[in-house]
Amino acid sequence: MSKNMIIAIDGPAGSGKSTSAKLVAQKLNYLYIDTGAMYRAITYLAMRRECLNEIEKVIEIAEKTNITLKFENGITLVFADGEDVTEAIRSINVNKNVSFVSKIKEVRAALVKKQQEMGQVTGGVVMEGRDIGTVVFPDADIKIFLTATIDRRAERRAKEYEAGGTHVSFDEVKNNLLNRDIIDSSRKESPLKQAEDATVVDTSKVSIAEQVELILDIVKKKNKTK
Ligand code: DC
Repeated sequence: MSKNMIIAIDGPAGSGKSTSAKLVAQKLNYLYIDTGAMYRAITYLAMRRECLNEIEKVIEIAEKTNITLKFENGITLVFADGEDVTEAIRSINVNKNVSFVSKIKEVRAALVKKQQEMGQVTGGVVMEGRDIGTVVFPDADIKIFLTATIDRRAERRAKEYEAGGTHVSFDEVKNNLLNRDIIDSSRKESPLKQAEDATVVDTSKVSIAEQVELILDIVKKKNKTK
C-alpha cells in the first residue's frame, strides 16, 4: 500500500458522504477530514461578524483563521483559532449561507491549500467534500462519487436534525438541499461534479453498512492491482 494513500469521497449533501467516509476511515485506521466543516466554519464566523456581504472581509477570515479539525468519538470537532465551533457550524442558518461563501474563489484557494497540507500525512487519509477528486487531490488513489435521490437525501438530513433535537420540516430540508445543489453544481470555481475517473456509488437504496462495504471493496481491488 502506498505511504500516502488518499481516498477522495465527493457528492452532494445527504448522499451519505460523512457517515460512510468516517466509517471507512475508522476501518482502515486512516485520518478522516471533513472539508465541508471548513467552509461552514468560515461561513459561521462571517455571519457572526455580520460581514457576509463584504467579500473582502470573508476572504480575510478564510485566509487568516486557523481552522483545525479533530476527530473524536465519531465526531469531527472543529476549532477556529482555538474556539470550538463544532455545534455552531451545523445550524440551519449556516446551511443557508454556506453555498454563497463557498462560491468565493479566494476562499476556496485558501481552504484547498489547507486541505492539501492536511493530506500530507503518513498513513492514509479519507477526505470528503465536493471537489476532492477534481481539485484538491486530482491524483487521489481512490475517487468515489456518492449520489442518491433528492427525497432520500432530504429524509436523511431531516432525521439528523431530529436526532440533534431540532425539528426542521422535510420540505424545508429538501428546498435547502435543492438550492445548495444548484449553487454548488453551477458555481464557476470547482463546482460539484464527478471526476472522470471516480467510481459512482448510488446510495439511495443501500444501508450505511452496505455503502461502507462497497467503498472498502473498491479499496481492496485497488490495492490488489498495485
Ligand atoms: O458537506 P457539507 O454539507 O458540510 O458542506 C457544506 C457546504 O460546503 C456545501 O454546501 C458546499 C461546500 N463545500 C464545498 O464547496 N467544497 C467542499 N470540498 C466541501 C464543501
